[in-house]
Amino acid sequence: MAGKLPEVGTTIFTVMSRRARELDALNLGQGFPDYDIDPRLTALVSAAMSAGHNQYAPMEGLPALRERIAAKLHASYGLNFDPQDEITITLGATEAIFSAVQAVIGAGDEAIAFDPAYDSYEPAVRLAGGRCVRVPLAQPGFRYDWERVRAALNERTRLILFNSPHNPACTVAGAADLEALAQLIAARDIVVISDEVYEHVVFDGGRHHSVLTHPQLAARSFAVFSFGKTLHATGLRVGYCVAPPALTRELRKVHQFNTFSISHPLQHAVAAYLAEHPDCGADLASFFQAKRDRLRNALDASGFGLPPAQGTYFQLLDFSRFAPRDDMQFAERLLTEARVATIPLSPFYAVPQPLPFVRLCIAKQDRTLDEAAARLNAFAQRLRAA
Ligand SMILES: Cc1ncc(COP(=O)(O)O)c(C=O)c1O
Repeated sequence: MAGKLPEVGTTIFTVMSRRARELDALNLGQGFPDYDIDPRLTALVSAAMSAGHNQYAPMEGLPALRERIAAKLHASYGLNFDPQDEITITLGATEAIFSAVQAVIGAGDEAIAFDPAYDSYEPAVRLAGGRCVRVPLAQPGFRYDWERVRAALNERTRLILFNSPHNPACTVAGAADLEALAQLIAARDIVVISDEVYEHVVFDGGRHHSVLTHPQLAARSFAVFSFGKTLHATGLRVGYCVAPPALTRELRKVHQFNTFSISHPLQHAVAAYLAEHPDCGADLASFFQAKRDRLRNALDASGFGLPPAQGTYFQLLDFSRFAPRDDMQFAERLLTEARVATIPLSPFYAVPQPLPFVRLCIAKQDRTLDEAAARLNAFAQRLRAA
């Protein structure tokens, strides 16, 4: 059987993590921390199960958790959202994106995604029967090019998949980007999915511009967040989507037949954790900025280019000084020769391109980052000598 995604294989993240284990390489590929989560969160999960919260949670999410999220949104953005009608708990950000896409895209509809983009966007659109139109981010610096977006719009366009801070580009959209996006959709029947999983990871004193802070965009957007990122626990699989009541109703119609409801004890634990740490997320920028700077400083003399990283928990490595623009091949060499697993950028593009970048995850213990830098420096030295 051909299936609905015939050319799609196992994602590069899964493949790289598996091969890193097999080869005993340092894994700076897939985006997950290698350090322990807060033991208090572990204790709260255990307490929630002991307290008997082990049956189905409410479909739209535990009320106590949605209230805590509303308080968190107020603390972050000074805005009030109705936990009842505007906040839905999802299985990570991935489910929020998938369910929102299914809610708005039908056969023949078009969605705009950028190139590069997080890899789940396009399959979600295609599984809904739609077509994903990819608009390149402008080089240098992977900037949103709103004129190109305008040129890609037509009467079939239903959705724009926006992401900031951006994975894998490590860029942060500004207020002017939000304004341009709002103007583009103002007179059209288009909604936005805004992937904001790295909302707290913006460096160098910059700030995250959420679509929720832009009234015209907030009225037309599904804003997507993840406790996996905010609590350093990507295995939690608890995320949420904030959207106006009409969009939330449509999202929940899909969500109830997709995942139905999210782990009940984990929702209790996260709600209790937020009650104890209402400002959780506030220290993430400085925490990850220190890691970014540590890795950049350690690679300073390597000969690899280090494009600016304004946010997210990644750093791009530009290897153009050492090898031809073939990121798949260079990632393979880094894995087998330097014993460092990275993620090539091609899988984030609609059509693989000759690219000079691989992506490194900085959400690692300092000693992992130091060892990775030592291996990358030694490899660069061998390449220079060759
Ligand atoms: C940009 C972006 N969106 C969504 C996700 C998925 O988030 P979750 O693990 O909560 O499903 C990730 C995970 O790496 C991501 O980087």
